[in-house]
Amino acid sequence: MTKKVLILKGSPREKGNSATLAERVAAGAREAGAQVESVYLHSLDIRPCDACDECQEKGTCIIEDDMQPLYSKISAADAIVLASPIYWFTVSAQLKLCIDRWYAFQASRWKEFHGKQVGVILTYGDTDLYTSGGINAIHTFETMFRFLRCEIVGMVYGSLMDVGDADKRPELLEQAFQLGQKLGSQA
Ligand SMILES: Cc1cc2nc3c(=O)[nH]c(=O)nc-3n(C[C@H](O)[C@H](O)[C@H](O)COP(=O)(O)O)c2cc1C
Repeated sequence: MTKKVLILKGSPREKGNSATLAERVAAGAREAGAQVESVYLHSLDIRPCDACDECQEKGTCIIEDDMQPLYSKISAADAIVLASPIYWFTVSAQLKLCIDRWYAFQASRWKEFHGKQVGVILTYGDTDLYTSGGINAIHTFETMFRFLRCEIVGMVYGSLMDVGDADKRPELLEQAFQLGQKLGSQA
């Protein structure tokens, strides 16, 4: 069966560095035969989790916003790619709003994540993974995907500042394409 790859793009810059690398992941996955959908989170109305805990009772989130269609896409995906710039030493607010709302997969619904594959794209302006804060985002992803029992297939990250910088880094573009091929191909 064709694999479904969902890419969540967390930068406000629609053609920024993380989006450029995310599109290379998409190209690799498509070449491998997958069905790929990219979502530009900044264009969506995603409100913060308000800790009402209604999801504990109902099994679904009751906030009526653009997370509702996204919940179904997340459930249906075989692989999820999280792409984010580093903002203040961790993931962007756009991505954090989205992943906080995964809390609604409470209790019995966590199993919807089990066995999904994951790819990560991170871009930052500082010179390395540690001083940029990229390491904090990686720690978050490692922790959350261990909890969700997902397999992190690969992470592509690099020091990039201005729009267009990613296009000048063939090695990162290639790593992203290869990550897409792995995520898009059958096991
Ligand atoms: C609000 C803001 C906060 C930032 N914080 C950091 C940071 O903490 N560490 C860092 O290395 N770069 C930081 N940067 C630089 C971005 O991570 C960098 O430009 C990145 O390539 C942006 O990715 P994008 O083009 O996908 O938006 C910040 C940029 C902005 C606009």
